[in-house]
Amino acid sequence: MNKEQLRSTANAMVQKGKGILAADESNPTCGKRFESIGVESTELTRNTYRDLLFTTNGMEEFISGVILFDETLRQSTISDGVVFPQYLKNLGVIPGIKVDKGAKELASHSGEKVTEGLDGLRERLSEYYKLGARFAKWRAVITIGDGIPTEACIHVNAHALARYAALCQEADIVPIVEPEVLMEGKHSIDSCHEISQKTFTKVFEELDKQRVYLEGIVLKPNMIVSGIGCSEQAGVEEVADRTVEVLKATVPDDVSGCAFLSGGQSNENATAHLNMMNAKHEGSLPWNLSFSYGRALQASTLTTWSGKDENIPAAQEAFLQRAKFNGMATKGTYSEALETEMA
Ligand code: 13P
Repeated sequence: MNKEQLRSTANAMVQKGKGILAADESNPTCGKRFESIGVESTELTRNTYRDLLFTTNGMEEFISGVILFDETLRQSTISDGVVFPQYLKNLGVIPGIKVDKGAKELASHSGEKVTEGLDGLRERLSEYYKLGARFAKWRAVITIGDGIPTEACIHVNAHALARYAALCQEADIVPIVEPEVLMEGKHSIDSCHEISQKTFTKVFEELDKQRVYLEGIVLKPNMIVSGIGCSEQAGVEEVADRTVEVLKATVPDDVSGCAFLSGGQSNENATAHLNMMNAKHEGSLPWNLSFSYGRALQASTLTTWSGKDENIPAAQEAFLQRAKFNGMATKGTYSEALETEMA
């Protein structure tokens, strides 16, 4: 394990002004996203779309790293055939790779899931390093519902996250540790608060037990929000305050930084929440707070593109705008007024 390399990669991923683009949708997920805009998901359309994102002029000003899917790590730019990891590296953007094999039904626990992918992971990580990946992602999902999550579900997911993280560090790859308490459901913000605190606590217990080097990880947590179906929706300031409160209570100071997932929040909310945390709390935080958004960075880009070549410049503009706004949010300098000004 090269601690120096791990720490410097992790710090670069969460540096002020920038964040991570999650473009690691598996082929089935990409299929769903493309279906929503009436585009067939093929190897070529996926390559074209990822090319659109990565070749957006100036995106490297706001994007520190990109999470790729296995297929994308092996694909190339359309215009000159440079493999994506090399292309990104040339721009100063760190290539990363999704390594989990997805969340599967947890036996004997109806409605709960455990993320798989540990078998053979050591060998896959060594290949990914050779292909240029310098960080990885593993997403665990916790569902809030009637009688769930159970202790067992939180435990097995935290345990797997720590085993994954230790294997990554052995291969000099920074693990993004992603425990996602889902927004789906009618639960209140109080439930999200309580379950997230419990989950993150358990995750750090396992990371400690399994000797994971905290300065060489990036935490990718959910924010503390009201369930999507909850009749009472918390405002921006409450989300920011509660999220910071939970992180302070659970995340050791040694951790290099946190890069939030968007989890189904609107583009504007995801940006406003991150901005409020940094504007109001930055001075009191031991780690940087940044973003690692998938949907919140890509939604407007996808619809603008709609699979048509002639829409690519406008779609790239939409992507650059979200990247820029979120880059500003890492410094607390975004304002909602910019949304209308730009529109
Ligand atoms: P969302 O921002 O769309 O939640 O995606 C982030 C991610 O990488 C989920 O694993």
